[in-house]
Amino acid sequence: MSPLEHVLDKARWAPSGDNVQTWRFEKIADDAFIVHAFDTRDTVVYDFDGRPSQIALGALLENISLAATEQGMQAEISRIGEPEIAGNSEAVAYSVKLLREAGCVPHPLAAMIEKRSVQRRALSVFDISEQHRTLLEQAVGDDFSVKWFSGWQEKCRIAGLLWQNARIRLTMPEAFPVHKKVIDWGKQFSPDRIPDQAIGMDKLGLSLMRWAMHSWQRVNFMNRYMAGTWLPRIQLDLVPALFCGAHFMIVARKKPGTTEDFIAAGRALQRFWLTATQLGIQLQPEMTPLIFNWHVNAGRSCSKAAHIWPAMQGLQTKLVQLVGGANLRNACFMGRIGYGKPASARSLRLPLRDLQFAPDVKKTEGA
Ligand SMILES: Cc1cc2nc3c(=O)[nH]c(=O)nc-3n(C[C@H](O)[C@H](O)[C@H](O)COP(=O)(O)O)c2cc1C
Repeated sequence: MSPLEHVLDKARWAPSGDNVQTWRFEKIADDAFIVHAFDTRDTVVYDFDGRPSQIALGALLENISLAATEQGMQAEISRIGEPEIAGNSEAVAYSVKLLREAGCVPHPLAAMIEKRSVQRRALSVFDISEQHRTLLEQAVGDDFSVKWFSGWQEKCRIAGLLWQNARIRLTMPEAFPVHKKVIDWGKQFSPDRIPDQAIGMDKLGLSLMRWAMHSWQRVNFMNRYMAGTWLPRIQLDLVPALFCGAHFMIVARKKPGTTEDFIAAGRALQRFWLTATQLGIQLQPEMTPLIFNWHVNAGRSCSKAAHIWPAMQGLQTKLVQLVGGANLRNACFMGRIGYGKPASARSLRLPLRDLQFAPDVKKTEGA
């Protein structure tokens, strides 16, 4: 494997919302390539202004930098193409040049790239140690800080918030096609989606969910007459929220707004997550409360269902009470972490040949 192939092979293990892998690679020389990234804001209600996709792109760029060190190289990464227009650019491109660097040694986090994965099941309730918190806080760098929510009282408050949040997620018609498309049923591993065994439900829950996900009418029927949101909310939100070491928020020192800001946040997140992996700490993103908060801030109702907008506003009020207005304004990422075993079921990645840039297909593939 050439150094360039090694770097790309590792880079593709970056996390992305619903494992969509919103990037394609174009080799332009033996030591240079372009990353063509896109977002799914047109089809995915959660991809608010492409921010989650930009965070994922940041994680990918961080992987590139780390993986290059394993080849004794430095990755020179620069944005190319049109300048960003008012935070609205859907396609983003980066050129990467690999430069040999005397005395360069493999970064210890590079070895964690493929081991890092989401754990959506219950984790140890032991608090994250002071020493580990410090290492995680250092991992995000000077431009970000980490806000922690730990102890039973705070975890209960977050659990309440996620319970409320899950009702929005599960009763919003616009989220249904996203959920339906993302789950790879009957699988332990999936190269381009999330295997059902990794979403954190037991067998009964999965069977019911699979039946209901056949159509929105079935989901609606379950929600209305059979308390259909209760089982997934208990298993996917309440239990994980209580059974973990802490919840966390990655907060930028300066209010994030541009694509570059969210890419920088993605780089910080990836260092945080890889450091957690190194320390034997598991992580699950909890991004939807933050995303719904962005919708409310922008005054953009993303649903035709009348109950969704007031529910999102209520959720935002609760978030402000919990984390404070200033933190929330600058928040880039939210999740839970805890000591525990890595997930036995996980998302895999598309092979490199399927991630080659082809101008005409890149958007439809990700949509
Ligand atoms: C920006 C972003 C947001 C995400 N949001 C969530 C989330 O809200 N809940 C969740 O369980 N996973 C979330 N994920 C995790 C992805 O689903 C996961 O990274 C992807 O399926 C690949 O799986 P892996 O990270 O285990 O390799 C998010 C990932 C990213 C990068």
